[in-house]
Amino acid sequence: MSSRKGIILAGGTGSRLFPLTKALSKQLLPVYDKPMIYYPLSTLMLAGIKEIIIIVNRESKSLFEKLLGDGSHLGIDINYAIQENPDGIAQAFLIAESFINNSPVALILGDNMFHGNDLTKKLKKANLNFTKNTIFVYPVVNPKRYGIVEFDKNGLAKNIEEKPNKPKSKYAVTGLYFYDNTVVDKAKEIIPSDRGELEITSINQLYLESKSLNVEILGRGMAWLDTGTFDSLHEAGAYIKTLESRQGYKAGSPEEVSWRNNWIKDSELIVLAKKQLNSGYGKYLIDLVEQKNESTYNFQSY
Ligand code: DAU
Repeated sequence: MSSRKGIILAGGTGSRLFPLTKALSKQLLPVYDKPMIYYPLSTLMLAGIKEIIIIVNRESKSLFEKLLGDGSHLGIDINYAIQENPDGIAQAFLIAESFINNSPVALILGDNMFHGNDLTKKLKKANLNFTKNTIFVYPVVNPKRYGIVEFDKNGLAKNIEEKPNKPKSKYAVTGLYFYDNTVVDKAKEIIPSDRGELEITSINQLYLESKSLNVEILGRGMAWLDTGTFDSLHEAGAYIKTLESRQGYKAGSPEEVSWRNNWIKDSELIVLAKKQLNSGYGKYLIDLVEQKNESTYNFQSY
């Protein structure tokens, strides 16, 4: 079985955040001290995924390339593809078909942020599960805005509805999906919804019908944040600031994840750090190496 590839979907018009996103892609906006895309990128890396494609709109491609390059500085491989129009999340699999090339694949939405205890364990498990496909659900107070899972009496997923008028539960499907290599064929099979999009919910429904969907609940101790509105964007930034100010650890640093995964060495992390000392981000990365060398007490892995 070849190793799983990763897709970050970072297209769209960002129109719900105009004028913030008139000139800049939503996934490049700051979430406290990092560009938004750092968080989903770190999430895929935490899962252990090293071959990644970022799908962007045409105008933004050069900006993403400037930010992340080919990924070699992070010990990973980053490719780019263009989505001409936001015709639906499931279109990502058609755009990335040749990149996927019959491998299993994980898709994460470029505006979704995950944080919490045991997250890495769950991500690694989903990544290495080659017999079942995994989606994660999370309780929300506004279920009409999401894909919502209905459970039967035994707690097994029974149905999934996109933005239901009458939600059958409060469990929203989060924007992180681990699929086998049949996903490209499934994306070819589905038809656009009433709102004209190839829905990711239609893909999940096909996996559910074939009894190969593993629906994992993310508990209360976990944070799942999306950044679709001014308020949720602000709240995500405030959450990250609170966490980082309190703990002294940064959430969503791809450089740190790469180093902790042993994909780059101490000396390589220090080179990356030295390019960004002025903001304090580089100093944080250097401190990681120094703390590791000083004592094991401070060396907290994920
Ligand atoms: O955030 C989780 C939810 O994401 C799921 O619960 C829903 O099932 C799923 O449909 C999706 O709902 P949204 O209404 O939040 O999707 P939205 O259209 O806002 O797209 C999410 C992100 O994906 C957004 O940052 C833009 C990007 N995107 C979206 C579409 C439709 C693209 O890059 N291309 C697209 O064609």
